[in-house]
Amino acid sequence: MRFTTLVLLAMAFHGWAVAGTANAPEDSGATLPDYQRARYSELHFKPAIDKASDEQCLACHAEVLKPSVREQSPAGVKAADTRAWYQQLATYEGSQETFHRRHLVTPLAKQLMNMRCNTCHQGNEPRDEAPGTSATSQIGGYTLRKHVDTEAICLKCHGQMNWPVMGLPEPWPKSKTLFQGNCLLCHQGIRTHRHQVSYLNSAAIEQAGTQSADACYGCHGGRAWYRINYPYPRHVWTGMAEGTPDWAKGRMTESESRFIIDATDHAGKK
Ligand code: HEC
Ligand code: HEC
Ligand code: HEC
Ligand code: HEC
Ligand code: HEC
Repeated sequence: MRFTTLVLLAMAFHGWAVAGTANAPEDSGATLPDYQRARYSELHFKPAIDKASDEQCLACHAEVLKPSVREQSPAGVKAADTRAWYQQLATYEGSQETFHRRHLVTPLAKQLMNMRCNTCHQGNEPRDEAPGTSATSQIGGYTLRKHVDTEAICLKCHGQMNWPVMGLPEPWPKSKTLFQGNCLLCHQGIRTHRHQVSYLNSAAIEQAGTQSADACYGCHGGRAWYRINYPYPRHVWTGMAEGTPDWAKGRMTESESRFIIDATDHAGKK
């Protein structure tokens, strides 16, 4: 009996929710289901999204940080026995985790990074169904895919290693032994003003780089989803040669403004 009532209630609610969606713009707020209010939460678009704390987002989206990887695929492959090509670096640890957890809460993420929901999610103007369709469109790229501009954000840590400009004879996996498997052999003195952005823990990154080049390579080619490399800003560093090499012409000399923090380079200079 109770079960039937529940089913009927659920069906009634479903009809109501669908009607609510169709009428959403004209409806007076009071008759809208809470789902609609939440969907159009001003935290989903600018300017509020830029100031939103993770706690505010997680009040509704707690599930994104809950462990939810299946132990076994429907075909019977056990997660514990599976390591993808991008899970081979020395820094990879623990059991399979979700995408959000790998960037926000697993030990390596916490050690090296300091990302927030709005580091990636930039939201969109809710009246726009596609970018750039109205005078008030949000400026800058956003995509229809969860409002994350992947080429601006993911590429920062998942592009190819730009080894030719580094003077390496071959890609890192082949040439690393020549350089004692150590990025810092060169980067102790080259491009030393780095990682001064709010979403990275720069000191911890340098520390990790002294232990293993895989820590550096992990964000600079070791997990490249792209065939291109990210055009990193080229900050002035102590001991930098005069003039700009051709490949670096047109590069920014500062990080993306929304992430800049005031800081000192690793040679101790402002
Ligand atoms: C009041 C509750 C609430 C808050 C606060 C909230 N959301 Fe949402 N969010 C929702 C609902 C409801 C949906 C629609 C879910 C669906 O249709 O599956 C949604 C959808 C989304 C989506 C998916 C959009 C898409 O294209 O499918 C993303 C991404 C998202 N929210 C991120 C965030 C972020 C980041 C924050 C904080 C800045 C945030 N949300 C704050 C309730 C909320
Ligand atoms: C590293 C970038 C990044 C960060 C940080 C991030 N997200 Fe996402 N999020 C994404 C991407 C990319 C997707 C789309 C994933 C997909 O479609 O498989 C997504 C999907 C979502 C969705 C849609 C549901 C889902 O699981 O696919 C929600 C809701 C969401 N994110 C909320 C959040 C919240 C809340 C935070 C902060 C606690 C957050 N995200 C942090 C990149 C990020
Ligand atoms: C600030 C650097 C950074 C950014 C930005 C970033 N990632 Fe990552 N990503 C990492 C690191 C570091 C790891 C490795 C985590 C580990 O091994 O524990 C990783 C791992 C991954 C993995 C593999 C997870 C696993 O289970 O092995 C995927 C998939 C991924 N990133 C996709 C993305 C996408 C898509 C975006 C953009 C929405 C993105 N990343 C943005 C640093 C970043
Ligand atoms: C043989 C010395 C050498 C080694 C080894 C080396 N680099 Fe470089 N790297 C350079 C030089 C030189 C540049 C370009 C400097 C400039 O801007 O003029 C560079 C540039 C970079 C850049 C910026 C690229 C761009 O397009 O702006 C990154 C990121 C980088 N290196 C990361 C690494 C990482 C990670 C490792 C180890 C896996 C590494 N490097 C190993 C010499 C080296
Ligand atoms: C968690 C990901 C991550 C790790 C680990 C990491 N980097 Fe980076 N690196 C980045 C990102 C993102 C940028 C671009 C930041 C910006 O926009 O200013 C960057 C920028 C650079 C640059 C360009 C500097 C400039 O002129 O602005 C160099 C060189 C570099 N990294 C070398 C290294 C070395 C060497 C290590 C290891 C000690 C390392 N990275 C580890 C993500 C990472």
